Amino acid sequence: MTTEALHIPVMLAEVGDLLDPAPGAVVLDCTLGLGGHTAMMAARIGPSGRIIGIDQDINAIDKARGRLAGFAGQLDIVKSNFSSLAVVLDGLGVEKVNTILFDLGVSSLQLDDAGRGFSFRMDGPLDMRMDRAAATSAEDLVNEWPEEKLADIIFKYGEERFSRRIARVIVMARASERITTTARLADIVLRALPRGYQRNRLHPATRTFQALRIAVNRELEILGEALVTAFERLAPGGRMAVIAFHSLEDRIVKGAFKALAREGRAVLLTKKPLRPGDVEDADNPRARSARLRVIERIEGDGTFS
Ligand SMILES: C[S@@+](CC[C@H](N)C(=O)[O-])C[C@H]1O[C@@H](n2cnc3c(N)ncnc32)[C@H](O)[C@@H]1O
Repeated sequence: MTTEALHIPVMLAEVGDLLDPAPGAVVLDCTLGLGGHTAMMAARIGPSGRIIGIDQDINAIDKARGRLAGFAGQLDIVKSNFSSLAVVLDGLGVEKVNTILFDLGVSSLQLDDAGRGFSFRMDGPLDMRMDRAAATSAEDLVNEWPEEKLADIIFKYGEERFSRRIARVIVMARASERITTTARLADIVLRALPRGYQRNRLHPATRTFQALRIAVNRELEILGEALVTAFERLAPGGRMAVIAFHSLEDRIVKGAFKALAREGRAVLLTKKPLRPGDVEDADNPRARSARLRVIERIEGDGTFS
């Protein structure tokens, strides 16, 4: 089986139903990935619609381009961070869009490639950059950041209660030899944890790896502002959906959407986040932690320019 075949778009039916892109609509997919959601939306808007797909990972873009070749006439794919979505839309001469999707985090393409360094389950270089042109990798953080800063990140972004012990053992280990692989880091984390450490079904290195990935890609720093910018580009009556994969991310989405609703600029189409159904949960492990939230921009909210 190829790697592409393994990336199953999360909550595809729910995203389609709630975003409900109409024929002729202009759609912005801020996390193109392998183009699974994009293909669904392109089919719904038909040949008179237009789609803009953004991803910061050139590998994902290459794969998506092949998969979406049938929609080439109505599709613009741009390699960019979604923190620059306004620049992307301006560059394409697009003022407003009707539908926006953020399907956050990493794809299976990234996770399952040992060479990208996202997973402790396979040995590979300690990289974790979604954008391989970015300046800083996980190896840089792990070997160069002060112990205190490492501990703070592992605590804040990994919600790991043994963050200080882990940071201390990392600093001790790197004094003898630079830490360059996922397997060595996973081993260091294991050594730092108390004997008998068990956390449900989670591998002991899960939280530390999550924290480093978030820090390397500045995932939480970027998100809040990107949601506000995206909303500014949403046409009245337009809808925006976000799929988050951990509580830190979802908290930011919830806060941004609630603020827009409070200001009378948007309606929450999901009062509580939607979770995948049992069948999807069982079939697609990535879906397990997904939370989908959707809002609609109110017509004539007075701020539309
Ligand atoms: C979960 S995958 C998307 C999968 C996609 N919906 C599909 O059906 O194939 C997330 C993608 O978003 C990209 N991504 C994550 N954060 C990004 C950011 N800040 N800017 C641009 N792309 C980002 C990742 O590189 C990855 O390819």
